[in-house]
Amino acid sequence: MIEVHDLHRHFGGFRAVDGASLRVEPKSITGLIGPNGAGKTTLFNVIAGVLPPTSGRVTMDGEDITGLPPHDLFHKGLLRTFQIAHEFSSMTCRENLMMVPGGQSGESLWNTWFGRKRIADEERALRAKADEVLEFLTIEHLAEQRAGQVSGGQKKLLELGRTMMVDAKIVFLDEVGAGVNRTLLGTIGDAILRLNKERGYTFVVIEHDMDFIGKISDHVICMAEGHVLAEGSLAEIKADERVIEAYLGTGLKNKDQLAGAGA
Ligand SMILES: Nc1ncnc2c1ncn2[C@@H]1O[C@H](COP(=O)(O)OP(=O)(O)O)[C@@H](O)[C@H]1O
Ligand SMILES: [Mg+2]
Repeated sequence: MIEVHDLHRHFGGFRAVDGASLRVEPKSITGLIGPNGAGKTTLFNVIAGVLPPTSGRVTMDGEDITGLPPHDLFHKGLLRTFQIAHEFSSMTCRENLMMVPGGQSGESLWNTWFGRKRIADEERALRAKADEVLEFLTIEHLAEQRAGQVSGGQKKLLELGRTMMVDAKIVFLDEVGAGVNRTLLGTIGDAILRLNKERGYTFVVIEHDMDFIGKISDHVICMAEGHVLAEGSLAEIKADERVIEAYLGTGLKNKDQLAGAGA
């Protein structure tokens, strides 16, 4: 579905992504791991059009999407989740979801020709869709709560929910588990697995929690120093000498991450 060919992203003389090549199979869940500073987030940002690459190529279903802006990728169903922006934190969870789809007639000049009924119909449909998403994620009780007041894990679910408001095909999740308690991490994992099985979403998930990666991933890719170091099952990756060395080389915290010891 996604192919990355010899991708580079340099910052000045520093090679954050340094010749990364990988494939993401359709309807798979790929876990992306690697020590801090490996270039994982930068790779996501280049694929998702947030940062232009220095060189290299990204294709989606065989089509060259290198350097396309996030808006265009969004319309192709490629989404990278972002934290709920500060300015939306005073809106309710339902309203945050209703904000997502682009091109609502309520926002366009075109609408002034067609009147208010269309806006009302669209708003009703959006609201129903938002409620369906909240229910799917088992957070329907948060519909009327301000997004700024829900827990960190519930925010992550809401971010995932935003991808369900449009027809996402592939979703990139960066550190979904950071600061999230065990129970909610389980809920997030279940939601990812269900979206994959029931709606055919493809996922690429960066996460340090190896239990979580093991639970959801079909395939694991380990990055270090800007490129792919190893890939395979989580068990294969964890047994790979190069991987162990890469984690060891960056200090104890990272080694513990590999062991899945939890913080
Ligand atoms: N905008 C930037 N300017 C300069 N260096 C950056 C920038 N973004 C990331 N880096 C550097 O690139 C390296 C990889 O970062 P990152 O992609 O965030 O790694 P990871 O997500 O694997 O921890 C790090 O050394 C980081 O300091
Ligand atoms: Mg990162």
